[in-house]
Amino acid sequence: MLKTHLPTHRLVSLLATAVACMLTPGISNAAETTAAQQLDRWNSQASSPGNADRGKVLFNTRQGGEWSCASCHGTPPTAQGKHASTGKVISPLAPAFNRNAFTDTTKIDKWFRRNCKDVLERECNAGEKADVLAYLLSLKP
Ligand code: HEC
Repeated sequence: MLKTHLPTHRLVSLLATAVACMLTPGISNAAETTAAQQLDRWNSQASSPGNADRGKVLFNTRQGGEWSCASCHGTPPTAQGKHASTGKVISPLAPAFNRNAFTDTTKIDKWFRRNCKDVLERECNAGEKADVLAYLLSLKP
């Protein structure tokens, strides 16, 4: 039995609100995806699974452009980063250090597109995204 001081009708309405939030994407701010799900997505699009060592190299070195990923996200990206040109503070990118990282597919796709264009002067392919994410997921406290 659920022990509570709340009257039953109150409890029922609270539960109904909770369920409604879960069923209505965009209204609750619950995570819509996870880093692990994103890694699965890119692994299945790429011909081979993400490789953390390759991802580490891609992340930390310049790839033709003026910046590397690390220029803004830091090395390793487990603490706050700082935008290389605007100085804007950026939350840690590694999921184990930031519960909001990789929780929104639209945001992930948008920033991958934009940041890869800055760093590689083209979009990243699925294999490169899988490599970067495998690297980010290998970073633990
Ligand atoms: C010029 C600065 C800059 C560079 C270089 C850069 N990023 Fe970012 N990145 C940002 C900013 C700013 C955000 C948005 C942060 C926020 O809203 O919390 C971001 C967000 C992201 C996100 C979304 C994370 C999330 O919250 O889900 C990913 C993924 C990402 N970057 C990957 C990369 C990768 C991979 C590279 C290298 C190819 C890279 N970034 C290089 C500035 C940069």
